[in-house]
Amino acid sequence: MASIEIDGLVKDYQNRQGKQTRVLDGIDLSISGETFVSIVGPSGSGKTTLLNIVSGIESLSNGSVRLRAGDRDAKVGYVFQDPRLLPWRTVTQNLRFVQHDRSGWEQRAQHYLDLVGLGHLGDRYPAQLSGGQQQRIGIARAFSVEPDILLMDEPFSHLDAMTSRSLREHLERIWLESRRTVMFVTHDVTEAVQLSDRIVVLAPGGRIHETIEVDLPRPRRASDPAVAMLQAEVLARFEVMEAAA
Ligand SMILES: Nc1ncnc2c1ncn2[C@@H]1O[C@H](COP(=O)(O)OP(=O)(O)OP(=O)(O)O)[C@@H](O)[C@H]1O
Ligand SMILES: [Mg+2]
Repeated sequence: MASIEIDGLVKDYQNRQGKQTRVLDGIDLSISGETFVSIVGPSGSGKTTLLNIVSGIESLSNGSVRLRAGDRDAKVGYVFQDPRLLPWRTVTQNLRFVQHDRSGWEQRAQHYLDLVGLGHLGDRYPAQLSGGQQQRIGIARAFSVEPDILLMDEPFSHLDAMTSRSLREHLERIWLESRRTVMFVTHDVTEAVQLSDRIVVLAPGGRIHETIEVDLPRPRRASDPAVAMLQAEVLARFEVMEAAA
């Protein structure tokens, strides 16, 4: 079972004049098992910085982050805001490129492409796909390395509302099929309610404002009244926090 343990995480950035700005200010977060956790917060509250530190791309100033899978270090996958496919490789070759373990990769690639509904497009090049299809490939690619922990940074934010709604359904389906420990960053509260077991609200200044447990049956439909009601409630709380900032 995978887990993410974040203790007293602090991140300071230094500007050219040597002045320090605190971007994350004492984050404590413990995630274990097949849990889908969303991090929501206004722009600049440190969401991307938090994911970058958890992934190891970025250093931390203080505190600790531990990623474990049983008694070993966890394998981590990262889905960025834009899909970052290699344009000179086909879809299938893009999935092949990220496999550390090549044995059985073809079946794995096909399985995850099928799960996002694009199993028939393996021979296409990224330029021959729509933006939404490219993002689905990006998600299939991340799942195909079968990471213990999956990090996603606003993967749908630059897509239109209809495409992102359908992608949310794809993501929920693929996650239900092959559950992972997920940290999903979004500024979209409604998206967070639809996808998450837990929502962590980051306040400006990089502190956790509150944590909300979401106990609704899956799969969830945006049109389901229980989902819509919780979305409205969380949105109202989010707006109160933003107004107070
Ligand atoms: N490399 C850097 N050097 C200095 N400051 C940085 C750097 N990267 C981010 N910051 C600052 O840290 C703060 C948090 O940035 P971050 O990108 O984590 O926010 P975010 O919550 O992801 O915002 P958004 O919703 O706009 O993506 C911002 O004030 C940003 O200007
Ligand atoms: Mg960001």
